[in-house]
Amino acid sequence: MSENRPLNNAEARAALDWYRAVGVDFAVGEEPVDRFAASAAPSRARPAPVAEAAAARPVAAAPAPIAISLTADPTETTALAAGARTLDELRAVMEAYDGCLLKKRATQLVFADGNPEAEIMLVGEGPGEQEDLQGKPFVGRAGQLLDRMLGSIGLDRSKVYIANMVPWRPPGNRDPTPEEMALCTPFLLRQVELVAPKFLVTLGNVPTKSLFRTENGITRMRGQWRDLTVGSHTMRALATLHPAYLLRTPASKALAWRDMLSLKQAIEGERA
Ligand code: URA
Repeated sequence: MSENRPLNNAEARAALDWYRAVGVDFAVGEEPVDRFAASAAPSRARPAPVAEAAAARPVAAAPAPIAISLTADPTETTALAAGARTLDELRAVMEAYDGCLLKKRATQLVFADGNPEAEIMLVGEGPGEQEDLQGKPFVGRAGQLLDRMLGSIGLDRSKVYIANMVPWRPPGNRDPTPEEMALCTPFLLRQVELVAPKFLVTLGNVPTKSLFRTENGITRMRGQWRDLTVGSHTMRALATLHPAYLLRTPASKALAWRDMLSLKQAIEGERA
């Protein structure tokens, strides 16, 4: 049954909660559009050419378009990142940068957490809802599992530094697009260079493919140490499974556990 009456407060709140849960967290127009009504009365008329249709549209009613760059050019972010001499300068440059659409939808920049002097750096994919709200990476459920994984080998956030490939939340927790990755990667690479860790761990597919420059997926890449050079800095690097994946696929925790032990051995080997 469909009723044509305004929603009361509780219903409106429930609808908003539902939108948020399914990843709809951004309005593209001022007025809701009933697409079902539009498709229920299909027009047999020849569709107007785009220019004709645009000319016929009342100008004042159109919502302001959002500029989406489909051919992202990382020249600007590369130059901005290169100019940052410290992590504080890099954060300031990223706070001021407005060229990535993700920023417009996010609550805030999620720069990093942990110890910038640490020997171990972890790189995730991008902030989720909790990270976006709190401004720190890996603070939601996946982050709590990550803390337990680190704890299992005697590490905590005072002994590691954590950042993400993209520092603003992709809406609805989708993967960052290739354009968003292209724009944001220079920032992350500079962050790695400035932290200069001895060991870098990529969490899941997105940072693994990007930082190891491979099309191989995480199941093939995980568990093997490789040398990774970023700018002037070379470090040992290991890919492992993303904690969010482990929450969905607990049977894979044994593999991640092996990777954590391998990290522990590498750290101990370094200290021996
Ligand atoms: N997943 C990520 O990849 N990064 C976060 O910060 C949180 C969840």
